[in-house]
Amino acid sequence: MSSRAKIIALFSAFAAGALILVTAVTVLMPAPAPRVTGTAAVGGPFSLVDQDGRTVTEAALKGKPSLVFFGFTHCPDVCPTALFEMSEIFSALGPDAEKAQAFFVTVDPERDTPETLKSYVSSFSPRIFGLTGTPEQVDRMKKEYRVYSRKVPLQDGDYTMDHTAVVYLMDKSGTFVAPFNSKRPPAEAAAELKRYF
Ligand code: NI
Repeated sequence: MSSRAKIIALFSAFAAGALILVTAVTVLMPAPAPRVTGTAAVGGPFSLVDQDGRTVTEAALKGKPSLVFFGFTHCPDVCPTALFEMSEIFSALGPDAEKAQAFFVTVDPERDTPETLKSYVSSFSPRIFGLTGTPEQVDRMKKEYRVYSRKVPLQDGDYTMDHTAVVYLMDKSGTFVAPFNSKRPPAEAAAELKRYF
């Protein structure tokens, strides 16, 4: 093979490879979800009760930025970790913690009564409010926030829950901004939250 032929052969091989790659990426890319356009697709009206039995609706999201997280009190690690991280962020905010808030929405309303939530959230920052409701009320909010959860039976007849573990950042008008990264130094996360005061 002449060196020119070698170059052409090499180039052809490269082009074929690139074409296969493009095809693979196109095939593997999930079809875009129809309603995820901009940020308006996450969130919506809800009516739940907090750990003190007070009604909480989407109106509670107005006036200050909020972190919204879905989980359940029997969760072995993901939920307590997320709530701990959020508590650290509120500590880092110091007196400014009052200018932000977080909601821990149960995906397990059968077990997570207001009383159960009250004792659970008392281990974390007082800026974190527990929310529960009827299964229908919780389902409605889950749908609006595109939260997945599923009951997983355990050996002993008990159950655990698989669930979406995204921290949602809502701005002070109650509009979804973006998923919030709570897994970074608390001061850094607090600084980001401050930008939404
Ligand atoms: Ni969890």
